[in-house]
Amino acid sequence: MSRGQSTQRKLKAPRGTFDVLGEESARRSALEARARALLEAAGYERIETPTFEATELFARGVGASTDIVRKEMFTFEDQAGRSLTLRPEGTAPVCRAYLEHGMHKRRQPVKLWYWSSFFRHERAQAGRYRQFWQLGAEAIGAEDPAVDAELIWLLSTLLAQLGVRGLRLRLSSLGSAQSRRAYRERLQAHLRANEASLSEDVRGRIELNPLRAFDSEHPGTRQVMQSAPRLLDELDAHDAEHFARVRELLDLAGVSYELDPTLVRGLDYYTRTVFELTSDALGAQSGVGGGGRYDGLIEQLGGPPTPGMGWAAGVERIMLAGDGEPEQPGHARVQAPAPAPLELFVALAGPRERLRGVAFALLSEARSADLSAQMDLAGRSLKGQLGLADALGARYVAIVEDTPAGGAGWRTTLKDMQGGGQREMATDAVVHAVLRSHHAL
Ligand code: HAM
Repeated sequence: MSRGQSTQRKLKAPRGTFDVLGEESARRSALEARARALLEAAGYERIETPTFEATELFARGVGASTDIVRKEMFTFEDQAGRSLTLRPEGTAPVCRAYLEHGMHKRRQPVKLWYWSSFFRHERAQAGRYRQFWQLGAEAIGAEDPAVDAELIWLLSTLLAQLGVRGLRLRLSSLGSAQSRRAYRERLQAHLRANEASLSEDVRGRIELNPLRAFDSEHPGTRQVMQSAPRLLDELDAHDAEHFARVRELLDLAGVSYELDPTLVRGLDYYTRTVFELTSDALGAQSGVGGGGRYDGLIEQLGGPPTPGMGWAAGVERIMLAGDGEPEQPGHARVQAPAPAPLELFVALAGPRERLRGVAFALLSEARSADLSAQMDLAGRSLKGQLGLADALGARYVAIVEDTPAGGAGWRTTLKDMQGGGQREMATDAVVHAVLRSHHAL
């Protein structure tokens, strides 16, 4: 063949896609290793689902009124005429897998994480691609507020560890599907009464998806939304209580957040807690990650009523907003470690409502110190919790209990599950004690 110029046109990667190579590839592997270490130490197991799924999964799961389903899916027919779609997000596929594999028979909640590529036909720009990667985590099968707090803590801690700059956490609650229905009608009435000032897009969605009006950048719409009724003010007692508990746990774990009653997410499955993390190091596409509860999704997909909660963060946006160096140099450069044995299990001996906060603060403190640590998230009795600690192979169990009447709050007993000894100590001495023995081993 002649070495002259080819007559063939040079081909490029499709619009909105990119190749990963060289230094970039090494940075991504480091990030993945750091995420794996944090999530697996908290009891999350890796899951891979197929790159494409039946289109119906997203139509039912993500919601027919969302931008994703209306205009952003890469949908095609296979040779047999079945409609398939390249996954635009990971929550509906993970819930499908939970049902398909009968995971309700496993210990609840089932905690899963993923690092996968997703596809959305969006206008490509910096930080917004048509094929992108998400790091995500889901906990399915428990509605304890500690599930919400654990997941939010994990994402904000991970992003901070990865050096993401200018982080802001916004938090809200959307209530249950029932309370939202009543609210929706009142919001629609408000939008209809001010229809002339709204953008065409928002006007076109009054029936389908009025909540998205809070997201609009259109000046007239923004004006109208300032006097719109707020969902957060109208939660029923049960949802308000749940949200108060989530906030209390975040406060205890030292996670700072802003309450944002206008926070809406671009997917229809959310109920109760929703949150988003943004970085001011990013331009227009400032959302680094977000998520929330989806207590109705599994039912929507044909399963029994099953609560769920999770988040996803954009890998490219984490890289753009971070300095690329993990907080502890060298830490993430190592190969992904084998899942660590569980070092600490925190158990509650007494009323969950009183002790959950103390236990959660201890759990977060242990995780910050890089210990693998878990607590029960499914309302088990003390016996059930100790059984769980045993099944997880916990090295130490910290049992937090109320002091007898007149005492100063609570006390903690640290049990050595291998050596057999146990010792009563102040709760804030537990992590130190476990670390000390850990190093001695
Ligand atoms: P999402 O907010 O649509 O949520 O996406 C999560 C993150 O993925 C965004 O914050 C952003 O960083 C990244 N992302 C989204 N679209 C693009 C794009 N076109 N290009 C680059 N990055 C992008 C979800 O997908 C939910 N499944 C999250 C969840 C999990 N909720 C509960 N569990």
